[in-house]
Amino acid sequence: MWGDVGRRSTITDDALQRCIAIDGPTASGKSVVGRALADLLHLGFFDTGLMYRACTLAVIEAGIDPVDEPAVFHLLHHLDLDVRWPEPNDPRILLAGVDVTPRLRGAAIEQTVSLISRIEDVRSELVRRQRAIATREPVVMAGRDIGTRVLVEARAKIFLDASTDTRARRRLGEERVEGRDSTFDAVLAATRRRDELDNTGHRAIHREQAAEGALIIDTDAMGIDEVVARCVELYRRANPAK
Ligand code: DC
Repeated sequence: MWGDVGRRSTITDDALQRCIAIDGPTASGKSVVGRALADLLHLGFFDTGLMYRACTLAVIEAGIDPVDEPAVFHLLHHLDLDVRWPEPNDPRILLAGVDVTPRLRGAAIEQTVSLISRIEDVRSELVRRQRAIATREPVVMAGRDIGTRVLVEARAKIFLDASTDTRARRRLGEERVEGRDSTFDAVLAATRRRDELDNTGHRAIHREQAAEGALIIDTDAMGIDEVVARCVELYRRANPAK
């Protein structure tokens, strides 16, 4: 029996160590890069922001005031939130068995999610659930506290950075594709506001807050292929084939 426990903990540690932790501010390219890495390295991809967004959806639907921290945490504690992967690079979030992923980028969630993600009790509960996902098998995980808190054991940690202007331009492009009539100035202001609101707790929003040992990649003047190639190189160096 003791042998079994020891073996399991080795497997768990190995999975956590082989994960890729990606952090960075909003619109720094975490999802695009993370998905590409997952495809190339045959790993699953998980964008942890989706969990904070799903909690926010549940709070809104329950009519709870997002600043009522005990009520939010009580709801989360009883929330039937599950993650499924129809494809390894396409995580889906289920609330009470229903796939809510397509609804998680809506304007109401966008406006409220920072209020939910700043609640420490919410964070510790979601960090616990995110670690549980990564102990099953190695994944590429993206967020704001992955290298510093969720997957401290990961051997490959990446911090993706880009200037506020570049990130706003990227976000504007995405919003135009979605058919939204956004302006650059509005998106720039929203990007700045999001950085400010997300800059609490153990989160890495600025490069000085990156996890120790993280590779900081300044993506301003780099194409996606070059960024991905540097991440793959880091991963292979940190996790040589056995
Ligand atoms: O990356 P995103 O825009 O989907 O994140 C949504 C919100 O969740 C945003 O307020 C940042 C927060 N978040 C976080 O605090 N920690 C994470 N690991 C992931 C997201």
